[in-house]
Amino acid sequence: MATFNEKKTCSQRMENFGRFVWNPDTGELLGRTLIKWVYISLYYVAFYVVIIGLFALSIFSLMKSLNPYVPDYQDRLSSPGVTIRPFHYVEEDINICINTSNSESWGSYTKSLQEFLAAYNSTVQAVQNVNCTSHDNIKALLSTPGSKTMRACQFTTELLGECSGEEDKNYGFQDGKPCFVIKMNRIIGFVPGNTTAPYVNCTSKNSAALGQVKYFPNGGNFSFDYFPYYGKKAQPNYTNPLVAVKFVDVQRNVKIPVVCKIVGTKISTDNPHDPYEGKVEFTLEIQ
Ligand SMILES: *[C@@H]1O[C@H](CO)[C@@H](O)[C@H](O)[C@H]1NC(C)=O
Ligand SMILES: *[C@@H]1O[C@H](CO)[C@@H](O)[C@H](O)[C@H]1NC(C)=O
Ligand SMILES: *[C@@H]1O[C@H](CO)[C@@H](O)[C@H](O)[C@H]1NC(C)=O
Ligand SMILES: *[C@@H]1O[C@H](CO)[C@@H](O)[C@H](O)[C@H]1NC(C)=O
Ligand SMILES: *[C@@H]1O[C@H](CO)[C@@H](O)[C@H](O)[C@H]1NC(C)=O
Ligand SMILES: *[C@@H]1O[C@H](CO)[C@@H](O)[C@H](O)[C@H]1NC(C)=O
Ligand SMILES: *[C@@H]1O[C@H](CO)[C@@H](O)[C@H](O)[C@H]1NC(C)=O
Repeated sequence: MATFNEKKTCSQRMENFGRFVWNPDTGELLGRTLIKWVYISLYYVAFYVVIIGLFALSIFSLMKSLNPYVPDYQDRLSSPGVTIRPFHYVEEDINICINTSNSESWGSYTKSLQEFLAAYNSTVQAVQNVNCTSHDNIKALLSTPGSKTMRACQFTTELLGECSGEEDKNYGFQDGKPCFVIKMNRIIGFVPGNTTAPYVNCTSKNSAALGQVKYFPNGGNFSFDYFPYYGKKAQPNYTNPLVAVKFVDVQRNVKIPVVCKIVGTKISTDNPHDPYEGKVEFTLEIQ
């Protein structure tokens, strides 16, 4: 009879271990019979199938309960960012220097404007969006019966007048009267006030050198027709309204600091953490 603390030789231990791994007398492998191993494996397979099933079910029901046409999570952005084309959103300062007699100094700008405004071509807009001119109930006009998606109002380059690129393919750059396009970034559900439409106001510390600024559409208003934006899925064809600014009277060979602000209720322009909130700043020099 082996007592509990009986000392075993090394070979006995090896043999015991060998019997544990495979016991020919009882037919046990690692202490269980083969059939028990099969049962235990089946048990764990079933266990994990159920766990994975529950997990998949909960994810599935979560996804079902989300309405893809209404965003659930939104950045707490309250005031839109502003960009100026032909430049994309840039972290660095925007320094525009144009030599009117050297088309290389502005050729890339006019090309970029052309590409950006291609989406606003009236042919393209007529296919995608609704002509909202002289309609009172825009919301009714845009809703598509029997569908979850909303249509959107057209914004065509014609509205940009002298900056439309139709008569002047160079957007005034070769005359030293360049056009730039101001775009307000979209925020889902954002309505910029309710009575006075937001408009662009470009100013300079050196206003004498900047001279006259023309705004298109006339007055530089962003029409309420384009607000609110309902989201990418709910309003797939939405195109941002634009305001073009044309500097028609710029003093030559002076670096002019310019600020273009969007003036409107609910649009702030003094966020110290985001210099592009509600406004865009740049320097303009025309040689
Ligand atoms: C503008 O470009 C023309 C032609 O390339 C050049 O002769 C002239 O010096 C440039 N002007 C300035 C101020 O650099
Ligand atoms: C719109 O695009 C068509 C075809 O690409 C072109 O013929 C037309 O001139 C463009 N219209 C405007 C206003 O740019
Ligand atoms: C979006 O534009 C396409 C054509 O590009 C049109 O077929 C579709 O009906 C438009 N969708 C909506 C919701 O206006
Ligand atoms: C939109 O309709 C108005 C009149 O209702 C018309 O004057 C204008 O040319 C139309 N715009 C386009 C882009 O078709
Ligand atoms: C416009 O909004 C202000 C507050 O944002 C509200 O007091 C006013 O009643 C609104 N006016 C209309 C016509 O909805
Ligand atoms: C711009 O909008 C304001 C009110 O929102 C309006 O009084 C003004 O006439 C508009 N300007 C133009 C040129 O349409
Ligand atoms: C534009 O801003 C300037 C400077 O803040 C101001 O004097 C001017 O009245 C503003 N113009 C409009 C139309 O709001």
